[in-house]
Amino acid sequence: MRVLVSGGAGYIGSHTVIQLIAAGHDVIVVDSFANAKPSVVGRLEALTGMPLDVRSFDLTDHDKTEHLFADEQIDAVIHFAGFKAVGESVEKPLEYYENNLVSTFSLVRAMRRHDVRKLVFSSSATVYGDNAQVPMQEDAPTSATNPYGWTKVMIEQVLRDVAEADPSWRIALLRYFNPVGAHPSGTIGEDPSDIPNNLMPFIAQVAVGRREKLSIYGGDYPTPDGTGVRDYIHVEDLAAGHVAALHRLGQTDTSVNTWNLGTGHGTSVLEMLHAFERAVGHELAHEVVDRRPGDIAESYADPTKAQAELGWRATRTVDDMCVDTWRWQSANPDGYP
Ligand code: UD1
Repeated sequence: MRVLVSGGAGYIGSHTVIQLIAAGHDVIVVDSFANAKPSVVGRLEALTGMPLDVRSFDLTDHDKTEHLFADEQIDAVIHFAGFKAVGESVEKPLEYYENNLVSTFSLVRAMRRHDVRKLVFSSSATVYGDNAQVPMQEDAPTSATNPYGWTKVMIEQVLRDVAEADPSWRIALLRYFNPVGAHPSGTIGEDPSDIPNNLMPFIAQVAVGRREKLSIYGGDYPTPDGTGVRDYIHVEDLAAGHVAALHRLGQTDTSVNTWNLGTGHGTSVLEMLHAFERAVGHELAHEVVDRRPGDIAESYADPTKAQAELGWRATRTVDDMCVDTWRWQSANPDGYP
């Protein structure tokens, strides 16, 4: 298939591009490079051994989006592009709603006009809000606690309505749990543009000497060791989940399909820290501080629906995630050039 990958230069997008090409697909990347470095492109080309077709523009630009679909024969779209920093979304709600929604409208309109009806959308476990039962199941009610999360809830609803109006659509809503890890080559990985908000890139920056110590947000949660529990999933397993979803869309009778992409296992902050210490070979400075507002005690997936319907499951361990993250971070202490 000829697959358009929006946000294909980003963290999850770049890992997925490699696996799409390995599976024999022809890939076009569209990326604004607002939150990705151009040097990722050369690294993807080195890993795949072929030139990558990259279009550098913002999907909110309707004309450019329309022209791309008019000029190219595209069979399916994987839509990763979007702003994703939770804290920033609270400070700049309008920018988040506008960017994430308008880019999706522009993309879906162009798809409809050019009869492209297969779409895989990057959603998030954040749509389960702060009240969900664990393990989280796809039929749980959705909500959000910040504008970033609301953009995911809203876009899911928009896509359900689009498919309701025209059941020839085949849409996958993929709800990721906590993506971590890096390509085993150590040449592509997560490269936050600012001080990392998320646990894994923060630990990695402590390990490489860019940050003094990890602040553990809360030691008094009702969890086995008192720290927050999450379902960390290796980005390579997540990328494989996208390829599986894309293939499945060609066979399903249902126009919208929602799948959790997680391992089904919870790992605490302290367990993750200790796994990273094993990967690095020494202890890492940390202290327990107050809880972070908005955080929940536990989040992990019920992945059985994705396993049954996609024939996919996450296989990498927490130690694999830490070893691969450390290989990337130690080889690229300041991220991409
Ligand atoms: C966060 C986002 C969520 C988003 C997800 C994407 C918030 C409130 N939530 O989820 O909307 O979908 O990332 O991956 O930002 N932790 C520390 N110290 C740190 C960083 C994190 O102790 O410096 C703890 C957190 O309290 C949490 C765990 O580590 O228990 C994971 O945190 P994080 O990586 O930010 O992910 P989420 O909170 O699950």
